[in-house]
Amino acid sequence: MPISAEIVRSLHRYEIRLLHQLERQMRHYRWVPEDVLRKASGLSASEMDYRIGRLAEWGLLKSSSVPYKGYQLMFAGYDTLALLSLTKRGTVQALGCMIGEGKEAVVYEALGLGVVVLKFHRIGQRSFQSARLQRGYMPDDGHFPWVFASTRSARQEYEALQTLHPHVAVPMPIDQNRNVVAMSFVPGMTLSQCTLENPKEILDLIIENVKTAYGLGVIHGDLSEYNIMAGESGIWIIDWPQWIGPDHPNADVILRRDVQNTVTFFNRKYGISCTTEEVLSRVIG
Ligand SMILES: Nc1ncnc2c1ncn2[C@@H]1O[C@H](COP(=O)(O)OP(=O)(O)OP(=O)(O)O)[C@@H](O)[C@H]1O
Ligand SMILES: [Mg+2]
Repeated sequence: MPISAEIVRSLHRYEIRLLHQLERQMRHYRWVPEDVLRKASGLSASEMDYRIGRLAEWGLLKSSSVPYKGYQLMFAGYDTLALLSLTKRGTVQALGCMIGEGKEAVVYEALGLGVVVLKFHRIGQRSFQSARLQRGYMPDDGHFPWVFASTRSARQEYEALQTLHPHVAVPMPIDQNRNVVAMSFVPGMTLSQCTLENPKEILDLIIENVKTAYGLGVIHGDLSEYNIMAGESGIWIIDWPQWIGPDHPNADVILRRDVQNTVTFFNRKYGISCTTEEVLSRVIG
């Protein structure tokens, strides 16, 4: 469920306290016992009941009554904590509309110093849940692997943007907290959504950017028409969490796949013929 600005704005400080405590206690418990949470939050039983009820209704946490009464943070609760931190340090003032929803992230427009983009990484809650159901075990990464996986993914993307900007045409990195990356808004559409007037020039521009990124030690790893945006003022390559370095054991295969996806797209849609080998030698050479 996407996060709602309305709900985040209307959170009471006790509710925020409960979310923070739940996050902390998740290190120790799969289901944080009610009495542990009550003690950690310092709330009365009736106050806590009421606040928990609201948080559960909004989908920020869930509760269970077996084998004991306990609570778990949901993705929306983790998103909320990240958003609260970004707001506190002035990166964000208001959350706007959702502008993209993929398998592994939800992307929002927001207001900070101008329009910013917030990418909420959401790796694996579903896949971890089904793995647990099918195989009856939890992956190694603690009680909440999706928290670690999503945070790791956000950090990775932020790191790539910091390395690449401004040498490569990528959104400007602004901030990162938990599973969220804040970056500049780029005024364009993905290549899959638009029709280019000057496809040959754009392809050259993309190849130049892939080459510069490679020189800086970054291979995208998921390059395609869905992760390249174009607008009046140029192109941008987005979506970098899965990047790898040139010394990665699969670097050659992955770089080749990135190039091949791009070459195939420009060939299919615009009839531009160049070979993967030609482009690869431009990138590496
Ligand atoms: N900095 C940005 N400025 C403007 N729009 C953006 C920006 N970053 C992402 N978007 C929009 O959000 C969409 C999804 O972003 P991204 O590709 O980074 O995430 P994703 O998880 O791969 O989602 P998908 O699976 O849909 O590709 C993009 O296709 C684009 O429309
Ligand atoms: Mg993408």
